[in-house]
Amino acid sequence: MSGWNSGNGSVVEEIKSRCNIVDVIGQYVTLKRAGSNYKGLCPFHGEKTPSFVVSEAKQIFTCFGCGASGDVIEFIKRYHNLDFSEAIEKLAGQYGIELKAYGGQGSSQKELYYEINRKAARFFLDAFTKKANPGLSYMQKRGLDPATLIRFGIGYADGEWDSLHRYFLQQGIDETLLTNIGLLSQSKGKYYDKFRNRVMFPIINTRGKVIGFGGRVLDDGTPKYLNSPESPVFLKKNNLFGLNLTRQDINKEDCVILVEGYMDVISLYQHGVHNVSASLGTALTENQAVMLKRYTKNVVLCYDSDSAGRAATLRGMDILRAAGCNVKVMGVTEGKDPDEFIKKNGAQAFYELVKSAKPFADYKLNLIREETDLSSDEGRLEYLQRVTQVLKSLSPTEADLYIGAIAKETRISEGAIRMEVFGSGIAGMGKIPEAPSQAVRTPAAGVPQTNVAIEGHYLEKNLLRLMLAQGAYIKRAGPYAEVFQDGACRRIYETMARLYQEDEEIDIETLADSLEPEDVAVIADILNNVRLNDREEEVFADCIARIETQRLCQREQQLLQMLELSDDETDAAKVEALTRELMTIQQRKNNRE
Ligand code: UTP
Ligand code: MN
Repeated sequence: MSGWNSGNGSVVEEIKSRCNIVDVIGQYVTLKRAGSNYKGLCPFHGEKTPSFVVSEAKQIFTCFGCGASGDVIEFIKRYHNLDFSEAIEKLAGQYGIELKAYGGQGSSQKELYYEINRKAARFFLDAFTKKANPGLSYMQKRGLDPATLIRFGIGYADGEWDSLHRYFLQQGIDETLLTNIGLLSQSKGKYYDKFRNRVMFPIINTRGKVIGFGGRVLDDGTPKYLNSPESPVFLKKNNLFGLNLTRQDINKEDCVILVEGYMDVISLYQHGVHNVSASLGTALTENQAVMLKRYTKNVVLCYDSDSAGRAATLRGMDILRAAGCNVKVMGVTEGKDPDEFIKKNGAQAFYELVKSAKPFADYKLNLIREETDLSSDEGRLEYLQRVTQVLKSLSPTEADLYIGAIAKETRISEGAIRMEVFGSGIAGMGKIPEAPSQAVRTPAAGVPQTNVAIEGHYLEKNLLRLMLAQGAYIKRAGPYAEVFQDGACRRIYETMARLYQEDEEIDIETLADSLEPEDVAVIADILNNVRLNDREEEVFADCIARIETQRLCQREQQLLQMLELSDDETDAAKVEALTRELMTIQQRKNNRE
């Protein structure tokens, strides 16, 4: 993000002081004065009686119907589906606030890179459209219409070593800049065009800036796709291909079909499937998930049918779930990918597949069933344990839908499975013991007590509080991350862990920008209610001790469960081993208390 987004808060101040929230919201919502506030119909949920309140004095809005609330920037973010920076740009533009004054070096440098990329895209487009060329023939052979190609700005990089180089020399653009964004490469002191004889796919962000390119060979050469390297303007993990064109459709349909490749997006688009986007390669990132969620929570994963695609589906699913998305999976049965499928079978058949997409839990459960042998005891146990993990990530009502079928399959009673999922056993992982043992409740070191409001997630909130105080705790708590079970706390932890990897100095504004408002509210609650009283190390040690006790309890439950499921007669050796471990664990537990 540019300079004014991180650290330098003054542009935010400037915007807030210049843009009166009542005027800004008044452009979109009819507001009527009500006492010292203004009232109107909430634009974020359908309502007939106004529960949307704007406070001029506090410069905030709140909807008592759906809970939406925030400042003027938050309103613009939500109303127009923008991210923080986009919202700032919009307001600044409207109110004549000069962003450059705040941008410093960073943003003008980036603007220059965007401009260079835009020129390069134009150059490739001209080569593709102004005369016959192998790139155009290739794309036409693959069944793409001129209209689609133009819509995506597809271009062609010719086979010469210096076409682009010469073009930019004429424009007086420095070679170092071109090298920095991967348009030129350098060898033995000489520059040459990086993309040669390739069809060029410009990658355009949601602000309409060309941030990079993917270039496809015209034959079986390697690499099949050459992509722009990471640069100040191109962070792969932050972008999705096609979203610049499709986000409105995604928002309208309230669903996105997520595919792997450039060609999948373009081909589906041409066939009328417009709510589509690609993760540029196979590995979906958390940032991409968060981006998608701005437009819809409903994601249909439609990756390639090969083993890489299946592995990516499993990983992508977890990342999307963690970001709070509803995930379904569809498989293209005929053809290696969505592009091939829709070309062969048409849009109607594709929509049928979308309709029959499986909820992520079904998909995972099927996979586990395929991988375990239900005829052996070990197999049934392994099955039960893995299935439990999946069910635990569902709401109790959802989980219940699956439990009956699983009981039948494993011949384990529904009650026992329920215990695993909701009650004790592995399912207890991360739950706070209701009544902490004496030793835990009154630690000798005098760890400050928390207030009642946050008692519910004692460990999670205390650890988060520590992390907010000092980034180093993010790393130190890593091995205990299992405690983050609560939706909001887990999302906060995961976001902080990710930001910490990028930069050990976490800026609270960047953090807030990466989270949904309800999670930001949880952070505010933690900052307000969890007191560290300069005893950070003691609080941390207390948390870790509690987690270790929890782990022992969990293993104990697990062992008890396994013993219950084993047969004394036929499995004497196993029973003995389990019993021995159980005794050790119980002893260690007693020692801790
Ligand atoms: P695929 O190999 O499935 O390509 O890789 P594709 O999009 O279906 O393309 P066609 O139909 O074979 O032409 C999926 C995505 O993985 C990335 C690209 O983003 C590609 O669209 N990829 C693949 C690369 O970045 N480099 C490669 O060499 C291959
Ligand atoms: Mn593919």
